[in-house]
Amino acid sequence: MSLTQKLRDKFMRSPEMEPWPGLIEKYRQWLPVSGKTPVITLKEGCTPLIRVKSIERRIKNHAKVYVKYDGLNPTGSFKDRGMTMAISKAKEEGCEAVICASTGNTSASAAAYAKRAGMRAFVLIPDGYVAQGKLAQALVYGAEIIAIRGNFDSALDIVRELNKKYPITLVNSVNPFRLQGQKTAAFEIIDELTDAPDWLCIPMGNAGNISAYWLGFKEYNKAGKSKKLPRMMGFQASGSAPLVYGKKIENPETIATAIRIGNPVNQSKAINAKKESKGGFLDVTDEEIIKAYNILGCEEGIFCEPASAASVAGLLKRSNEVPQNSTIVCVLTGNGLKDPDCAINNNSAKFYKDIPAESKKISELIGY
Ligand code: F0G
Repeated sequence: MSLTQKLRDKFMRSPEMEPWPGLIEKYRQWLPVSGKTPVITLKEGCTPLIRVKSIERRIKNHAKVYVKYDGLNPTGSFKDRGMTMAISKAKEEGCEAVICASTGNTSASAAAYAKRAGMRAFVLIPDGYVAQGKLAQALVYGAEIIAIRGNFDSALDIVRELNKKYPITLVNSVNPFRLQGQKTAAFEIIDELTDAPDWLCIPMGNAGNISAYWLGFKEYNKAGKSKKLPRMMGFQASGSAPLVYGKKIENPETIATAIRIGNPVNQSKAINAKKESKGGFLDVTDEEIIKAYNILGCEEGIFCEPASAASVAGLLKRSNEVPQNSTIVCVLTGNGLKDPDCAINNNSAKFYKDIPAESKKISELIGY
């Protein structure tokens, strides 16, 4: 290499080009880790905050609306934020196997991080109710998958019991390290907006994520990193809305299988977040979820999974209550590729099939 080239390399390297270290390294001082903690990372976090004008137009009131696209994490969902922490701490404690109940995303994330750490991963899933992409991931990551004749709530009861009896670490959101990792999404939002938003709209299943965000917003606010705290707006699917109706749902049903949960374990934390933040819980129908899902896809080029679209569907449903000039963030928890069946069955695309391979025919078809 010539001297000029060497000098150019030395002085032209921009500091912004430093690689993202993963969320544990980035937010180490805010997390319960020490020099002894082996950091198991896939460089999760640092997901984009994207302005969505198609939603702003539908709300009016000059609101600025962003989506936090957490479906761009390494396994395609926000679970990776919690899993890097849960698995790093499990490794630190010498654990050799982890277990979880899952509607799909937790199992994919747990499997990826556990295998990376050299551990066994057992996942219990409700047979027939896990989206194909999530199942494909758990298989490829080498999880040991147990599909039960029962729903998520029964699966969670079983893994909690097994965790008490055997030396297997539970990595559902009852594991406190999960919420610690997930709170970093709130830090990223404040770091980028330089303050908290007025509303945070978020889907709720087991209600760990809303609790984690609230934790993050409060911690950063206390440290002077934000001037305000957001109102926490949680949304559930109408057929699966125990937090909205204030009672357990025995047989939850929704197209948004990720949040098909009738008895959320983090219920009291979520209710507290709502109370402290003067927020609100509301349900959205499957039709409203799919409408939001399609607006994001067709008008914004953002493909999220149905459960994630519940946050935007909820915002649209509450649009009359949006304060003037407010800033709103909707959390898109999972990637649309997770659930290809939902995408294929719920879109308004023109899809011409069985067309002869002739340019004339195709020009006619596309109207030229
Ligand atoms: N969005 C997606 C895409 C999810 O996978 C989940 C939960 C939620 C929202 C709700 O988050 O439970 O913290 O309120 N999925 C879990 C799983 C239950 O097993 O993957 P929460």
